[in-house]
Amino acid sequence: MTQELTSPSPAPQAPGSGRGPGWWRDAVIYQVYVRSFADSDGDGIGDLRGVRERLPHLKDLGVDAVWLTPFYASPQADGGYDVADYRAVDPLFGTLQDADDLLRTAHDLGLRVIVDIVPNHTSDRHPWFTDPELARQRYLFRPGKGENGELPPNDWESIFGGPAWTRTDRGDWYLHLFAPQQPDLNWENPEVHAEFEAILRFWLDLGVDGFRVDVAHGMIKAPGLPDIGHGAQAQLIGSQVLPFFDQDGVHAIHRAWRRLLDGYGDGSGRQVIGVAEAWAPTPERLALYVRPDELHQAFNFQFLNAPWQADALRTVIEASLAATASVGAPTTWVLSNHDVVRHTTRLGGSLARARAASLLMLALPGSAYLYQGEELGLPEVTDLPDEVRQDPAFFRGGRATGAAGPGTDTEAAPDGVAAASGQDGFRDGCRVPLPWSGEAPPYGFGPGGSWLPQPADWAPLTVAAQTGDPASTLELYRAALELRRRLPGLGDGPMSWAPAPDGVLAFTRPGVLCTVNTLGHDVELPAPGTPLLSSAPVTVQDSAARLPGDSCTWWAI
Ligand code: GLC
Repeated sequence: MTQELTSPSPAPQAPGSGRGPGWWRDAVIYQVYVRSFADSDGDGIGDLRGVRERLPHLKDLGVDAVWLTPFYASPQADGGYDVADYRAVDPLFGTLQDADDLLRTAHDLGLRVIVDIVPNHTSDRHPWFTDPELARQRYLFRPGKGENGELPPNDWESIFGGPAWTRTDRGDWYLHLFAPQQPDLNWENPEVHAEFEAILRFWLDLGVDGFRVDVAHGMIKAPGLPDIGHGAQAQLIGSQVLPFFDQDGVHAIHRAWRRLLDGYGDGSGRQVIGVAEAWAPTPERLALYVRPDELHQAFNFQFLNAPWQADALRTVIEASLAATASVGAPTTWVLSNHDVVRHTTRLGGSLARARAASLLMLALPGSAYLYQGEELGLPEVTDLPDEVRQDPAFFRGGRATGAAGPGTDTEAAPDGVAAASGQDGFRDGCRVPLPWSGEAPPYGFGPGGSWLPQPADWAPLTVAAQTGDPASTLELYRAALELRRRLPGLGDGPMSWAPAPDGVLAFTRPGVLCTVNTLGHDVELPAPGTPLLSSAPVTVQDSAARLPGDSCTWWAI
């Protein structure tokens, strides 16, 4: 490591939008799925240099921060969520120097950077797991049931399908809530705590501005690892506390991490954050992760899972705001990520709805997470051939369409694995590399090909094709983020509902009113103000506004 690496570049001085006590409270944070964002070296796989070169796109887009998915040394059994060395960059993605350069460039551009931390499990190639003695202390090994220990120790299932246990050559079994290559750590062992605190410090010393905590609800298991008792685990995840998810014991870990993060807040005003990827059965239980002495944010998957229906959206929005308000935290909104079907496709294959949903999200109080490509209105790719698949859920869940195990209904699966009607239920379709420019694949993704094939009809969706076209989704996002920065009433702060006809939502923020028509047809209502921005052309005549079907409009009031 060079000397340079040890002195972190300063985080941007101004808080995300210049408002409020914490930059994260109203930040718009853009998720970069590193292997699919931009490829600098032509191997068809996105890398850190590619991200760095494309940071100006994110600056122009107007986001406040970037979240990078894991780029650590990994056999890539689960897209890098199987980490073999938490302090090294996988050669696929570059070097530690590239990570440092990326941080510096981002900070120079005024962008903060959050990295992923994966504490529930490591790779089975991690040196702790490959050493049988260490492994026994630091992972969850148990004897099997049955006469010769030939049955798994309990009835838990892997989120990716099949039993959550794998038998070793020695005859005992180890727990893996995800793929067999992702053994669960034993968080009863203080060495595990110490190691993760050291890893957090390593990245904080390099200058990162926070962590997205993977499976933040999973580290602690119920004592004795009890059976669930019936075979419907996939349906139970996210709807009730299970012996392996959302156990109260996880909060002690988050409290310790918060103390560590706060310790990095110094006189310079540096504020580093933790955001929980936590699946909790209710907004109230989710709010426990963002109590003042725990993490700063938690993804609000209830919003992501809500159907495109005015009453349902209102219910979720109210419940989310009430729950986080009860602990003084901001609400965090998200519509798409690398684990779920892209919202353009999920919301009925309707770009109009997707654009409306995005404007709705960006008008709500709190912070919003964008997933790369949603600013281009990218759809899910639903016709990937089997031979290019990489999602471990695809291989463990069987090859039949929709047989991923969890969540084969019309909504995104609550465990974070994609599922939706008419789509295949696996996660490669939202991970297809981004189209940047040009008429044919790889659309400027890099000098080589792309690790997943891009559709032949994406030329009109590239960043270059959409730039400057006021009707494009990219320009809609740019305009929305620009207004969000400029109007003090957006972002964190008060919101109240306004009267609206059935199927329409209306709410006010200071100086702004937002209408959302969830119906498939136009709705007329008295014009609430002057249109500022709309996801579809809105007309105002003689004080009457005509809201197009599936649209969202921001009005100056
Ligand atoms: C999280 C990640 C997902 C990964 C899983 C196991 O849900 O978002 O991509 O497969 O954790 O680490």
